[in-house]
Amino acid sequence: MRAAAAPLAAALFAAPLAVLLAAAPARAQEQEKLPHPGWSFDGPFGTFDRAAAQRGFQVYLEVCANCHSLKEAYYRNLDGIGLSEAQIKAIAASVSVPTIGDDGQPAERPALPSDHFRSPYPNEKAARAALNGALPPDLSVIVKAREGGPDYVYGVLTGYADPPAGMKMGDGMNYNKAFPGHQIAMPQPLHDDQVTYADGTKATIDQEAHDVVTFLTYIANPEMETRKRTGVKIMIFLALLTGVTYAVKRKVWSDVH
Ligand code: HEC
Repeated sequence: MRAAAAPLAAALFAAPLAVLLAAAPARAQEQEKLPHPGWSFDGPFGTFDRAAAQRGFQVYLEVCANCHSLKEAYYRNLDGIGLSEAQIKAIAASVSVPTIGDDGQPAERPALPSDHFRSPYPNEKAARAALNGALPPDLSVIVKAREGGPDYVYGVLTGYADPPAGMKMGDGMNYNKAFPGHQIAMPQPLHDDQVTYADGTKATIDQEAHDVVTFLTYIANPEMETRKRTGVKIMIFLALLTGVTYAVKRKVWSDVH
């Protein structure tokens, strides 16, 4: 009985930790074909790489924002990727958003940090009309809405190629390895040196895709870091509590054994 005590204690400590570690990579098997580039926010201790997320914001703004909205995000959310209040104010102020003027007529005003990101098109019809009938989905929660999450979005952005011989492509469609059905209406959005990074990072397609996906994952989960910190604290607390409870049990029962 005595000899079994130590392994038992170890098992009790290990159980919550194992649950914690297993939770993160529990993704469906179907994504085996998707690339797994590795992310700063992976795992129970993962955080958002601030520099990558800021570069990703630049990619969103200069490239994706021409077609895709980010309706659920506010400019003030940019504080979570390390931008200062002054920087956020300046970014918002450079965009004009619809308002109602003093004369009661539709007008425009500079955006405030408390405004939602401005959408490129006023409505779905306008978007479809401009894009050959295709609808660019809102990107606010795209990494949560699609199976494969960040790996999938990264896979789409880096998955353009020539269609295999004999594959019939629809009008205006592009071959894409990661997109279901492999025909996507979105023209390849990223190319080498599509953007110029202020921090000197080389803007390859992979880099741009990795950065913008880091940004979009933050936008979809602005509370992720707090949630993970709380989770880790709870696990440590539970592990300690398990230990204390076990020690008390041994003390209480010590005369009986
Ligand atoms: C020229 C307009 C245009 C640009 C620029 C553009 N997209 Fe798209 N995107 C589209 C359209 C249209 C679709 C819908 C495609 C379809 O349904 O076949 C789409 C679809 C997508 C999808 C959805 C795939 C799915 O599962 O539904 C993702 C993810 C995506 N775009 C991300 C991006 C990102 C990130 C950028 C910036 C790097 C970007 N797009 C730039 C037009 C654009």
